[in-house]
Amino acid sequence: MTVTGTSAPTSAPGPPRETARAARILARCHEIAKHTETAGQITRTFLSPPMHGVHRLLRGWMEAAGMSTNVDAAGNFRGVYPASREPARRIILGSHLDSVPNAGAFDGVLGVVMAVAVVEALENSLPISLEVIGFSEEEGVRFRRPFLGSLAVIGRLDAADLALTDAEGITVADAIRNFGLDPVRISDAKLSANAAAYLELHIEQGPVLEHVEQIARRVGHGSFENSARGLAAQQRRAASTLGVVETIVGQSRLLFTFQGQANHAGTTPMPLRRDALAAAAEWIVAVETMGRQVPGLVATVGRLEADPGASNVISSLVRATLDVRHPDDAKRAEAVVDLIANADAAAHARQVLLTHETLLEQPAVQMNADLVRLLQNAVTSAGHVPRVMPSGAGHDAMILAPQLPSVMLFLPSPGGLSHHPEEAVLAEDIEAALQTVLEFLRMVSHDKALTNA
Ligand code: HGY
Ligand code: MN
Ligand code: MN
Repeated sequence: MTVTGTSAPTSAPGPPRETARAARILARCHEIAKHTETAGQITRTFLSPPMHGVHRLLRGWMEAAGMSTNVDAAGNFRGVYPASREPARRIILGSHLDSVPNAGAFDGVLGVVMAVAVVEALENSLPISLEVIGFSEEEGVRFRRPFLGSLAVIGRLDAADLALTDAEGITVADAIRNFGLDPVRISDAKLSANAAAYLELHIEQGPVLEHVEQIARRVGHGSFENSARGLAAQQRRAASTLGVVETIVGQSRLLFTFQGQANHAGTTPMPLRRDALAAAAEWIVAVETMGRQVPGLVATVGRLEADPGASNVISSLVRATLDVRHPDDAKRAEAVVDLIANADAAAHARQVLLTHETLLEQPAVQMNADLVRLLQNAVTSAGHVPRVMPSGAGHDAMILAPQLPSVMLFLPSPGGLSHHPEEAVLAEDIEAALQTVLEFLRMVSHDKALTNA
């Protein structure tokens, strides 16, 4: 794993933008990364044993910063920092603590660690209280159902969710009990009545911000340097480009099962086969083709299991996942219908039986327009460059937003890489985001509409 978090040298003069607090945030993310289910890589699924170690670290950092902490019945780790005076409204900061398999060190975790650093950076408390939430499950790896933690926080984790089973047949409720918590207390996880807004800090996980930054850097070369635009570009180089999320695109996740017939690979003539893997393979190419052809669509088959999995046996059973996303919900639904039809045709042509199950239907979610404007102003007033943009990745903010005014701040992802061990984030961008959030909280605490308890 390369040393992540090193900061690319900014070509422009200006105050050092790397700081001790940014370095400490990087170090803490690497501390948390050591708590994994698989030695040598980062894998941490819903309430697996390593999550206890993560909670121990967070408890130490949060309580040293003057926060009271608890773990709710859905396994979310929570810390509260009191207001300078009560009654007061509450701003929620947070992100998720679980990961995809063989993940990077920053997806989710960075948002929680930075939220603690915001509390540590406050000179004195504000006329608002802060709550930091480390959500227990956003990726949906263990139970194939994302957002279990944030669903509990808005009171939407139901009996069906608690009855979901993992590959070992353990239910969500069992996993909660095995972690030492009580699923009967799920309703206690709900947001406090004085919650006024939610801000999630997260790496962009894509190439947009870095690309914008590169354009700005390129613009700064040549005779252009001393003109107004050149100086602005220089200023830009001395500043970070941070994403202000206005929409989180919708996503559909499905599980397809191709049921064919095992047979001998050497003696079965091609026309007599019912090859489940060949049917799935034809369909997977069609998924990629549609993703390339339809503007704004992304379509992915991320997981494929083929039984019996022997080189000399025609595959009898294939299970494959499908992930489809588009900013427009109708276009996403249309693509899902077309891809189901495509799978049907590929199966039918080989006398293979197709079934499919919908695991997630998550509509696109708008962030709160007032908070988007406020956050944009906070980025600018902190001396950085805001870029209002959609999020192609799903986030806990999309679960909270229908109930709580929510907004997200993205930090650039070097190389646009994420869900990968070499996922990175730059210390200078962490510092820029910290400055922005402190500015945002200052603005919010003076916003009567938001903070009048
Ligand atoms: O898959 C996603 O959108 C996110 O990383 N959970
Ligand atoms: Mn993720
Ligand atoms: Mn994430």
